[in-house]
Amino acid sequence: MPTTASEIETAVEVADVRRRVAAARTAGRRVAFVPTMGFLHEGHLQLVARARAAADFVVMSIFVNPLQFGPGEDFTRYPRDAEGDAVKARNAGVDLLFTPTVETMYPGGAITAVVPTGLETRWEGAVRPGHFRGVCTVVAKLFNIVQPDFAVFGQKDVQQATIVRAMVRDLDFPLEVVVAPTVREADGLAMSSRNSYLSAEERVRARALSASLRAARAAFAAGARDVGAIEAAGRAVLEREGRTTPDYFAVVDPQTLEPATIASPTSLVLVAARVGATRLIDNDTLGG
Ligand code: PAJ
Repeated sequence: MPTTASEIETAVEVADVRRRVAAARTAGRRVAFVPTMGFLHEGHLQLVARARAAADFVVMSIFVNPLQFGPGEDFTRYPRDAEGDAVKARNAGVDLLFTPTVETMYPGGAITAVVPTGLETRWEGAVRPGHFRGVCTVVAKLFNIVQPDFAVFGQKDVQQATIVRAMVRDLDFPLEVVVAPTVREADGLAMSSRNSYLSAEERVRARALSASLRAARAAFAAGARDVGAIEAAGRAVLEREGRTTPDYFAVVDPQTLEPATIASPTSLVLVAARVGATRLIDNDTLGG
């Protein structure tokens, strides 16, 4: 049992997680799961709040998953803060923290991966080949380890949430996927562990991502229905305020994430852009 407020039940081994979750379930508790890569911020903590609202036992994993990083991406310098994360998780109401090592998750000899199709090569997948294969493989493993009643993901990574939801449906995982809203800084920047990479000057330019989404919404509110015109309004803001061109800026169908032919209030706008060396993503609806 924890002895101080900053201590939290932590499991490093798979068998340990299984034992503790089984005990919670035997005690009649509903189990929620929040997978993360750590360096926790308010966006992560709101997922825990959402989990707590409908569960009596909340498991959070913190695992920087090498499989979802491409060569030359930021796996080795991804920010880490094990102690700070433990305090935040505990205070947010996490009951069990799962912090496996790479060796525990990938002991070697694996010949199986979970590979989504279609959406895997669009948007983030086009820029980061193999990323969603890495995400699905680790999330499938984590689901099998934790076996929650439901898992909470963030709207911030809407393509990830969409692909995980499809995986759960397609592979019959006995759990529900819940998606919680994007948490933003006061100036609109979507919270992200990667925001810590930004210099002061880049942090100002990074506002352009959320500003470009607002510009798209404003264009739609002003009557624009042509997808190309709406996208042009958003790109212009990115170029002017962010001094960057997007990897993509696209109006898409909210269910399939395929490019929209006609703009509607529920259409989603997806944006990804580099600010300096840091790659940021964001999304919002056009109307809703
Ligand atoms: P990570 O980037 O740490 O994010 C963990 C969860 O927090 C994801 O569901 C993500 O969408 C959510 N999240 C991040 N920023 C948020 C924000 N500003 N508002 C709301 N939710 C936010 O996503 C991953 O880790 C990994 O790919 C993972 C699913 C853990 C698999 O390795």
